[in-house]
Amino acid sequence: MKLSRRAQDGLVLALGLLPLAGSIVAAAAGWLGANPVEELTHQTGEAALRLLLLSLCVTPARRIFGWHGLARHRRTLGLFAFFYASLHLGIYVFLDLSLDFTAVAEDLLERPYIAAGFTAFVSMLPLALTSTRAAIRRLGSRWRLLHRLVYPAAVAAVVHRLWLAKADLREPLLYAAILAVLLGVRGAWHLSGGRGGSIGGT
Ligand code: HEM
Repeated sequence: MKLSRRAQDGLVLALGLLPLAGSIVAAAAGWLGANPVEELTHQTGEAALRLLLLSLCVTPARRIFGWHGLARHRRTLGLFAFFYASLHLGIYVFLDLSLDFTAVAEDLLERPYIAAGFTAFVSMLPLALTSTRAAIRRLGSRWRLLHRLVYPAAVAAVVHRLWLAKADLREPLLYAAILAVLLGVRGAWHLSGGRGGSIGGT
């Protein structure tokens, strides 16, 4: 079955907006539990990580299954990942730490998982800022180079998730395994002379 461009766009948009809609409904219905800030941090963090990994699936899916129309959804998925990462960081800084920047700095220095999350966010920032067609044109071949930052961003995000896991490691290990496969596939293509891919592309 082949989906029309419009149906594909709708599906990707729904995929990107679903976590936000879920959080809004849960907040309105009082379903966020005893610690709503913690729950929202959880929901936005998971959404950011899943969408980031999904954006990295686009190039392998294109190449393996010949779904070339998927390429233009990479940017949307990457931007949604950045949107949730920004909400996640905003909730932590505004709601959790009440804009206490000394506490933010202390957390950054004392909690390695926060440093890993920060690394992921800082790596995603230039990708989001240069995702416009104008930036792609202006940067030329440097754009592709810059967008390789998606790999350290994804590794740091998975490390962040692994580091903060307490007892149950199944989910973070699943993310790590998915990322390992995605990076492995790209590594194999690279060694065989093919091209990898990045998020935010045309
Ligand atoms: C400066 C940037 C970041 C900060 C300060 C930060 C902070 C946090 C905090 C405080 C938690 C909750 C820890 C706990 O439950 O004890 C968390 C969880 C999480 N974060 Fe981040 N984070 C950052 C960036 C990111 C990014 C970029 C991603 C993904 C792309 C991400 C994904 C996650 C995930 C998946 C969780 C686990 C949610 C859960 O199961 O509870 N974070 N983060």
